[in-house]
Amino acid sequence: MKAFCFTGYGKNLKELLSFEDLPEPSVGRNDVLISVRAAALNPADYKIIYGQAKLYKKFEFPSPIGFDVSGKVIAVGNSVQYFKVGDEVFSKVPWDQKGTVAPLIAVSEGNVGIKPRNISFEEAAGLPLVGCTVLEAFKYAKVGLGTRALIHAGSGGIGTFAIQYAKHLGAQVYTTTSTKNIELVKSLGAEKIIDYTKTDYREIANDVDVILESLGGKYTKEAIKTVKKGGKVIAIIGYRDNETLKSIGISGFLRFLNGIRGFSLIWLAKKREVEYKHIWTFPNRKLLDEIRILVESEAVKPIIDKVYPFEEADKAMLYLETNRARGKVIIRIENEV
Ligand SMILES: NC(=O)c1ccc[n+]([C@@H]2O[C@H](COP(=O)([O-])OP(=O)(O)OC[C@H]3O[C@@H](n4cnc5c(N)ncnc54)[C@H](OP(=O)(O)O)[C@@H]3O)[C@@H](O)[C@H]2O)c1
Repeated sequence: MKAFCFTGYGKNLKELLSFEDLPEPSVGRNDVLISVRAAALNPADYKIIYGQAKLYKKFEFPSPIGFDVSGKVIAVGNSVQYFKVGDEVFSKVPWDQKGTVAPLIAVSEGNVGIKPRNISFEEAAGLPLVGCTVLEAFKYAKVGLGTRALIHAGSGGIGTFAIQYAKHLGAQVYTTTSTKNIELVKSLGAEKIIDYTKTDYREIANDVDVILESLGGKYTKEAIKTVKKGGKVIAIIGYRDNETLKSIGISGFLRFLNGIRGFSLIWLAKKREVEYKHIWTFPNRKLLDEIRILVESEAVKPIIDKVYPFEEADKAMLYLETNRARGKVIIRIENEV
């Protein structure tokens, strides 16, 4: 089968993206085989090509691309309990099964959920990775009624989900965005909208209880300095605390080196009595079920920027890489079954 792949590590995506003939996936005992209808891209897909994930996993080339998927179950392994042929599903596949921008994908059933019934396959494909990340982040931070939460990059894949979910939980939502996306984030429920091209967000968001930090670089330290004393910084980018590294299987020595690297950040957090936590999501059926219920009850609606045909998956990736996407970038895959 033809699959969207990358052929090596580097920054020049144009040279590294390709469509390759790969064998059809074999279906393990606990796997469901999905006939893919749509896949979504995430920044993780191009960061892996940059080589930023080599510490966690090294891939052989050509390596198939994509974690997010929706489609129809066309076969199940002998031990599968929760799914049957014909089910419409969505999933964020684990690292060792990645490659959703392809006609077929085999996924262990623990990573699969029934697709929300009120939305299209394209809309469903964009939900798993961002949805599971935001759910885990806000559960960890105990975001609830009256929580003042700053959600950076409100117009992105994470931000568009996070604003709606925070509103649903009863939080007061602050968000950063550029001028052209103000109406979008307002329509999703953001209350304090900070146009970062005109205003320094630190002057407005210095009373928040929680910051969802998705920008990285200088923003991580700034978040610790900006959140109110005793507040929480939940990062999904940048410095990973040792607990998170342990959960993804990083060795004690590398964790020790990481601890040295993050010392000043953690010291600053301690000084300000701020809790710093990096969230690395492990999507599972329970979280996917929660997302389905949020979408079916219309508490959260999927926001899609562009849908590309499979043959233009490379263009989709280059577009996502611009860091200007408004919501999710989706790839439609024509499959008859
Ligand atoms: N740890 C995890 O498990 C995990 C999971 C998911 C994502 N992530 C990470 O989280 C980050 C965000 O992911 P995403 O899917 O939301 O990315 P994305 O959809 O590609 O983000 C694009 C959006 O970011 C906004 N943006 C860019 N620079 C900004 C700035 N300085 N201030 C405010 N907004 C800005 C852009 O809006 P404007 O055009 O208005 O600037 C655009 O709408 C990525 O780095 C990703 O790798 C981590």
